Amino acid sequence: MADKSPKLRGTQIEAFRAQIWAFYGHSGRKLPWRNTRNPYKVLVSEVMLQQTQVARVLEKYVEFLRKFPTVISLTNAPLSDVLRVWQGMGYNRRARYLHDTARKIVSEHGGRIPKTQTELVALPGIGPYTARAILAFAYNEPHAFIETNIRRVFIYNFFKNKKNISDKEIFPLIEQTLDKENPREWYYALMDYGSHLPKIVRSNPNKKSKHYLRQKAFEGSLRELRGKIIRELARKSLTFAQLYRICGNDNRTKDTLSALLKEGLIKQHKTRFELA
Ligand code: ADE
Repeated sequence: MADKSPKLRGTQIEAFRAQIWAFYGHSGRKLPWRNTRNPYKVLVSEVMLQQTQVARVLEKYVEFLRKFPTVISLTNAPLSDVLRVWQGMGYNRRARYLHDTARKIVSEHGGRIPKTQTELVALPGIGPYTARAILAFAYNEPHAFIETNIRRVFIYNFFKNKKNISDKEIFPLIEQTLDKENPREWYYALMDYGSHLPKIVRSNPNKKSKHYLRQKAFEGSLRELRGKIIRELARKSLTFAQLYRICGNDNRTKDTLSALLKEGLIKQHKTRFELA
């Protein structure tokens, strides 16, 4: 349909919108981060949702905001407290980025979440996707952005007979179909439809994306080892020998500790390692 020159007809746009809104009308999800327009809370949720599934984020989002209800409270907390709450979501670097971002918002923006993409992407861990998602969800601004659910919707609907589809090809379609009156709700609807699609199609449409990366096995991965070390150190400080044993004498333990030290997630005090 939209192969070389992805220009949709008015009727196509109308039909697509109607389909997405209809789905949202009967199957839209009520999610706690959709109950707020507080840009700090939206920021927290979007960073969490970058790489963690909704079900897992649901458990953590509320707990995180109970502990760190404002930018200031997050700024004042030690990183170790933030890492403790983050446990279970994986990709712990995001916790440090979020902590650094909060500090930067206080030191450079007077404690207010910036309202422009340029300022947002200058914050640690905030890429163009997260920046535009924050602008849409917090301020209802109509920016085009893509993530895994949105990508799935467009590939499924507009690239039926095509493979190796790049986001560059999808973007014009996101722009043309975007509901500029209500981008916030529109993106909720798109994401809900995209997350529902795998239940009704045999093969994940995103496999046809140029950017598709199969999630590597977690078991035996470095990510698993990193998570284990952080989880153990969240309980108490440990020596290298203790950590090595806990990690099943994994010979990647030393290098992983070095990496975590370098990234500022943990620190070393004499012979013991602890959360930063
Ligand atoms: N609602 C708002 N942002 C979302 C996201 N990134 N994933 C799923 N639902 C959302």
